[in-house]
Amino acid sequence: MSNKPLKVLGPIKILGIETSCDETAASIIVRHPDGSGEILSNIVRTQLEEHAAFGGVVPEIAARAHCEALDKIIKAAMLEANCEFKDLDAIGASSGPGLIGGLLVGTMTAKAIASVHKLPYIAVNHLAGHALTAGLTDQTKPPYLLLLVSGGHTQLLWIEGVGNYTRIGSTIDDALGEAFDKTAKLLGLGYPGGPEVEKWAKDGDETRFKLPSPLKGRKEPNFSFSGLKTALRQQAEKAQPLSDQDIHDLCASFQKALITSVMDRVNMALLQLDDRFPINGKRQFVVAGGVAANQKLKSELEKFSETHNLTLIVPPPALCTDNAAMIAWAAAEQFATGQNDPLSTPVRSRWPLDESAKPILGSGKAGSKA
Ligand code: KG4
Ligand code: ZN
Repeated sequence: MSNKPLKVLGPIKILGIETSCDETAASIIVRHPDGSGEILSNIVRTQLEEHAAFGGVVPEIAARAHCEALDKIIKAAMLEANCEFKDLDAIGASSGPGLIGGLLVGTMTAKAIASVHKLPYIAVNHLAGHALTAGLTDQTKPPYLLLLVSGGHTQLLWIEGVGNYTRIGSTIDDALGEAFDKTAKLLGLGYPGGPEVEKWAKDGDETRFKLPSPLKGRKEPNFSFSGLKTALRQQAEKAQPLSDQDIHDLCASFQKALITSVMDRVNMALLQLDDRFPINGKRQFVVAGGVAANQKLKSELEKFSETHNLTLIVPPPALCTDNAAMIAWAAAEQFATGQNDPLSTPVRSRWPLDESAKPILGSGKAGSKA
């Protein structure tokens, strides 16, 4: 633990490290006393090339690539921020959920720096990084409804404060990003699949292929995407051999079906919120995680928010996909509440944001990706 006193009344300068999946990232941010944040550097090295041939992330390759890159990435982040270790107030690292090898590389490095320079160490839940990003980018303060949509997670949470997260709904099978990725793979498009499907969908007819809307109208605001993926596969098999236009139309129809389902589920969450977390006036609605980079989803959510009296906040795409600025920011928010974790804090491959939430019926996923 730290020998340095807490300095929450002044600006806090934090180094954040992210290695939970296939991005090696380091960032320096400052949290100002008024609660606003400033990014001094934000370096991300993606391992896309290493994993592309496999159509998904290979854990051992990811861990080795983090080992090779992390020191250089931290050095670059420190240099760009014109910062030395003695200038830091604390170090935060993604400690889960995610791939164990990568998490160990990031947290052991953070702990080593913390130990040598006698700095506080903050264990950050990667999902809290996504959940709190809007505070860094838009100065959004809780409470807010969060739609967290990434490659490993799809959840609706009510965020009441740092560390105070209530799960309202979750996927019972695939995550939204996973549905995009698997469908892109099926159609022979590149990896990661989300941006590819979005690109191909632009020139497609979204009404051509009829796809189901899973769980439509069901009261619990959970998600299910695996049936949609199967329906898409069946349609693609029927249309063989596929022309480019068929692929455009399949992507457009699939993206439309996914987004329609997300809207229906968010609508149900709002009805639940009325009962559980009543608020007079406008509610804040934050969308985070890699899939929030999808511009079609964003524009549909904008329309939805207007008609549902919601203030929509979507961080810029580079801060929606995995990065270390969000980890540094979450660490700063946690540090400002007095958190300082022992260096013996373990990594966790599974680490739900709402630890009290019951497992969802039908969900068999451990969620190694975040
Ligand atoms: O949060 P994130 O960067 O990483 C983890 O899941 O850990 O999210 C990555 C996911 C991938 O499934 C990727 O296909 C998806 O976000 N994604 C998108 C878009 N950009 C990234 N999905 C749909 N449209 C996009 N433009
Ligand atoms: Zn993520």
